[in-house]
Amino acid sequence: MRMVKNKHNKKPTSLRCSPFSLVSTVVGCVFMIHLIMLYSRKYSVDLEVSSQLLIHHPIVRELERVEEENIHMPPPRKRSPRAIKRKPKRPTTLVEEFLDENSQIRHLFFPDMKSAFGPTKDDNDSDTLHHFFPGRIWLDTEGNPIQAHGGGILYDERSKIYYWYGEYKDGPTYHSHKKGPARVDIIGVGCYSSKDLWTWKNEGVVLAAEETDETHDLHKSNVLERPKVIYNSDTDKYVMWMHIDDANYTKASVGVAISDNPIGPFVYLYSKSPHGFDSRDMTVFKDEDNTAYLIYSSEDNSVLHIGPLTENYLDVKPVMKRIMVGQHREAPAIFKHENTYYMITSGCTGWAPNEALAHAAESVMGPWETLGNPCVGGNSVFRSTTFFAQSTHVIPLPGVHGAFIFMADRWNPADLRDSRYLWLPLIVGGPADKPLEFNFGFPMWSRVSVYWHRQWRLPSAGGKKIA
Ligand SMILES: *[C@@H]1O[C@H](CO)[C@@H](O)[C@H](O)[C@H]1NC(C)=O
Ligand SMILES: *[C@@H]1O[C@H](CO)[C@@H](O)[C@H](O)[C@H]1NC(C)=O
Repeated sequence: MRMVKNKHNKKPTSLRCSPFSLVSTVVGCVFMIHLIMLYSRKYSVDLEVSSQLLIHHPIVRELERVEEENIHMPPPRKRSPRAIKRKPKRPTTLVEEFLDENSQIRHLFFPDMKSAFGPTKDDNDSDTLHHFFPGRIWLDTEGNPIQAHGGGILYDERSKIYYWYGEYKDGPTYHSHKKGPARVDIIGVGCYSSKDLWTWKNEGVVLAAEETDETHDLHKSNVLERPKVIYNSDTDKYVMWMHIDDANYTKASVGVAISDNPIGPFVYLYSKSPHGFDSRDMTVFKDEDNTAYLIYSSEDNSVLHIGPLTENYLDVKPVMKRIMVGQHREAPAIFKHENTYYMITSGCTGWAPNEALAHAAESVMGPWETLGNPCVGGNSVFRSTTFFAQSTHVIPLPGVHGAFIFMADRWNPADLRDSRYLWLPLIVGGPADKPLEFNFGFPMWSRVSVYWHRQWRLPSAGGKKIA
């Protein structure tokens, strides 16, 4: 519409030239407007059917009722001259405060064991039973903190059991050399099982580190990150893909492991440079037609690469598309809603949190368009740091069409085993907040929103209320 109006403004003389050109311009404009409306209608109708259902769903209104956060910078600490000399600059922003392991407000980001939640902590109080507390310590059925960082969830259709795989990091954090990033030796991939996504039973380390052979990819001195498992119904195998690296992140490869059983043991097959490129943060996505894809940060994290896996899911096909070129995104998490593909990514700032972005595409191979920051609630610092966390996976929220669970990691680089999980409701619906350039200002994609909650529960779970 704006485009049409501008045309008139720029060329007022042509209107005076002849009555015929005036009529044809007006007719042309009306026709154009009609076309644009039809075009935008098509999309908005598609989107609104589900959005309308969703928006009027009382459960969704509860999930969208975000909480505000009011964390303030602590007053300046009294510091000894020696401390000032050692570390002259004191934190001046909330993010620096978050990264400062001696911060007076550290308990706000990393609440201690007293506030832990989980099946053993709960006294059958319906105000907390089955409630998620993003950022608090989450205990398994034995009362131990869950170790499944950078993880992902597989839903086993046959047994109706969820399996949560992630980095088992229950070891000391150290730096392998002065400039090396904080690390924990590989212990392996942890696996937890659950029927309700809240009560998690530790199924043990399903892919273990190699203790002695230093040339092995899984030697404990190396790096194993972001394991994801998908099921191949043709071969009846569970296939795990993961980021494999050395301590300096120069190997930059993907690794593949396989198992007959979701709870392992997984047999490690090999690592490779997919399509001949470096590969760091990655994930796999299995589409409804059973085609699976590998998505990885490549070319020194400047671009994401995406390509289909072979039918048995054990390798990539020689087909690859470069997406979000030059945007420096990592931690990809892909999901699909009503024939549109969505992705959440983070920026590349090491263990420090940064702003998430949502992206959408009509085809998984792209082109992908960036929608903007999906985070809603908390406060502006929370929103610009993905609630002090980083995306790892998105799964459907059981029982609510168009709703998902956004899984993220709140990394604790001072003690990586104590990194926390943030699970939050993610909803696809409503108009995008940032109109895109080439669709005449009409929102073509639905908004993707991740809602901050200090406490919430799944609508399907028992208990009195949704907090
Ligand atoms: C909670 O309820 C379950 C089943 O109703 C029961 O088996 C369990 O012992 C209860 N736990 C506590 C701590 O009361
Ligand atoms: C990592 O880099 C450091 C410093 O450059 C070097 O001493 C060390 O050998 C490297 N380690 C590996 C596994 O490449």
